Amino acid sequence: TATIEVDVSSLTEGMSLTVKWRGRPVFVRNRTAKEVEAANATALEELKDPIARNANLADDQPATDLARSAGEGKENWIVMIGVCTHLGCVPLGQAGDFGGWFCPCHGSHYDTAGRVRKGPAPENLPIPRFEFVSDTVVRIG
Ligand code: FES
Repeated sequence: TATIEVDVSSLTEGMSLTVKWRGRPVFVRNRTAKEVEAANATALEELKDPIARNANLADDQPATDLARSAGEGKENWIVMIGVCTHLGCVPLGQAGDFGGWFCPCHGSHYDTAGRVRKGPAPENLPIPRFEFVSDTVVRIG
């Protein structure tokens, strides 16, 4: 179906899971305070792609950490389509020079907010439409 519900109750801080949605992997990560801090400390001018790429927000929304997260009060959560924006490989978590994700195919590095920081990928990892329908369940799609 077009919409899935994911139970994230087992994800303590620093844990992630990958679910399949419309044939593609979706990463759900409960980020550590340190990871959120690192992303917040990055100036927008340092970003290769300054757009949030968040389907829940306006198309021109800047790629602040908040705009990449699940929003106010849920900044620790990030939900992204796990497909490298270069040529579609699946990036590895907690890897790369920025402590976020690393695509081993041609070496794209994404930060803890899933924003591309280095390598051939042109865009941040896309954020699908999603919402928390309770404290522990995320609906994607
Ligand atoms: Fe990820 Fe090329 S597909 S870097």
